[in-house]
Amino acid sequence: MKYRHSHHAGNFADLHKHVALLGLLRALKRKDKGFLYLDTHAGRGSYDLSGGSAEAAAGVGRFMQVQPAAHELREFAALVRAFRAGAGRSQLYPGSPLLAATELRPQDRAVLFELQGAEAHALEESCAALATLRQHPINVRIERGDGFARLKAFLPPAERRGLTLLDPPYEEQQDFARLTESIAEAARRFPTGVVAAWYPIKDERTIAPWHLECLRALQESTAMRAAVLASELWLYPRDSRVTLNGSGVLIVNPPWLTLEHMQVWLPELQACLAVGPGGGSSVRMLSESSG
Ligand SMILES: C[S@@+](CC[C@H](N)C(=O)[O-])C[C@H]1O[C@@H](n2cnc3c(N)ncnc32)[C@H](O)[C@@H]1O
Repeated sequence: MKYRHSHHAGNFADLHKHVALLGLLRALKRKDKGFLYLDTHAGRGSYDLSGGSAEAAAGVGRFMQVQPAAHELREFAALVRAFRAGAGRSQLYPGSPLLAATELRPQDRAVLFELQGAEAHALEESCAALATLRQHPINVRIERGDGFARLKAFLPPAERRGLTLLDPPYEEQQDFARLTESIAEAARRFPTGVVAAWYPIKDERTIAPWHLECLRALQESTAMRAAVLASELWLYPRDSRVTLNGSGVLIVNPPWLTLEHMQVWLPELQACLAVGPGGGSSVRMLSESSG
């Protein structure tokens, strides 16, 4: 596998995914009862951006220079600042597992999967460094392996509350198909759990059919209609031949007010990252729950 997330860390798609992720974690934390955070494609957890990648400069570099108005964006900026201050490194960026680990309370836990050995090893080190900083252990289990295949073993969690993030690299032909299967499998095993899946917007014609396929797979696996939200942010016309036109996050069982909050922060994030007139954002329910 050639994919290394460090080439893309802190880009516009990471910001979209990570602000959404933080919102979901904070929503779960509205209740005292613990939850499981499951990250099927975790990456190395912490990224040093001091090499000055153009993607990061146009993403988190730009974002950290503005003073956002939306609450969720201010919270995310504060998390990045605190992460950097804690590590004493001003160019660090937290990936999804470290972002989640910083949010875990003593009653919460995380299971993180990463296929590549070097990335998994770096993830262990990042989590260990965070635990040292916090001066208490963090309830995190890291597995080197195939997150799509291993997900089943952890659902449903004993806590009966949880969030699964699926964020494959889409380097393999089958990643979209495995993603759809895994979303449906997660919902079948744990119908009340929140599932968030990141997807690239590269070819506009493929997105609506994939959404329909997900809805069909979900309905077949749970025999009821799940609530499904699609959040999308694009910087280039959605069918242009740029490598990545936009970023999407599909959320099954979005917590209360997720849609309403996104309707505020997503357009503001898009405006902050815009590169021209071809961009935009949208957040909508693809399906309402019938359960
Ligand atoms: C897009 S990156 C993840 C980024 C991370 N979720 C974040 O937001 O910071 C995808 C990661 O998945 C890993 N990977 C690829 N196939 C995998 C699989 N089948 N199971 C687990 N990890 C996989 C890659 O090595 C890469 O580190």
